[in-house]
Amino acid sequence: MSNFRTFILGLVASFGLPWLCLIVIPVLKYQALQPVAYDKDTDGVEGYYPPAPVHGQGQIVYLREGCSQCHTQMIRPSQIALDGWHKGWGQDQEARPAAPVRSNTLYDYLGEHYAPLGIVRSGPDLANYGWRAPERGIIHQKLFAPRSQHDWSNMPAFKSLYIVRKAQGPVSDKALKLTGKAAPEAGYEVVPTAEAEALVDYLLSLKKDYPVPGVSAAVAAAPAPAKK
Ligand code: HEC
Repeated sequence: MSNFRTFILGLVASFGLPWLCLIVIPVLKYQALQPVAYDKDTDGVEGYYPPAPVHGQGQIVYLREGCSQCHTQMIRPSQIALDGWHKGWGQDQEARPAAPVRSNTLYDYLGEHYAPLGIVRSGPDLANYGWRAPERGIIHQKLFAPRSQHDWSNMPAFKSLYIVRKAQGPVSDKALKLTGKAAPEAGYEVVPTAEAEALVDYLLSLKKDYPVPGVSAAVAAAPAPAKK
């Protein structure tokens, strides 16, 4: 009988403790978060942290289409000995914003109904896609025909978000500029639906790189220490 009791206790400990530490405590912590006001002197900016919420309509399309099956939106901090974001990562990219690239904090997801953190990193992390994004037309091309940009891409084509229609009169200025295999038949044009436009608005709104209150923007933006 005592073996049975140890077994049940062991079971409760093995499932209960991780449940408490990984789910209950983080949820309670997250629910208690409130936006924080920036201090102009220390933070160098005004307003509230986190600033603008993401584009909600587009996020619904993002979730429905399963983008978060392949894309994460989470720049992992270094914790204990586990390797995560290092100062300097992401700073070699063109169009680097004035605000520093940094790892994400719980606050970054405040105001989002769902936080599509993602499951695997099959595609690039999109947490800061908003500042490295090309112009709208190029993003639409990627969603309609990913291989028109990278012939090795395994990203699926989201053709259902676009309408292929007979061109009547002059070609619409919304029509995608597609060449090669991706191009529609002569006399036809491909135009985005309202959902595709909302999705692109959402992708452009992804910028989780604003300063964290209390961490001076100048310190955070300072170049990474030289590698030993
Ligand atoms: C099966 C996995 C998969 C799914 C699902 C997927 N993608 Fe991708 N995505 C990729 C891969 C791999 C790349 C990198 C190769 C490339 O650029 O095509 C990529 C690239 C991208 C890029 C360019 C990123 C950059 O840094 O330049 C964007 C934007 C993007 N995907 C958006 C989306 C959106 C929006 C959806 C949902 C509608 C989606 N993806 C669904 C795999 C996926």
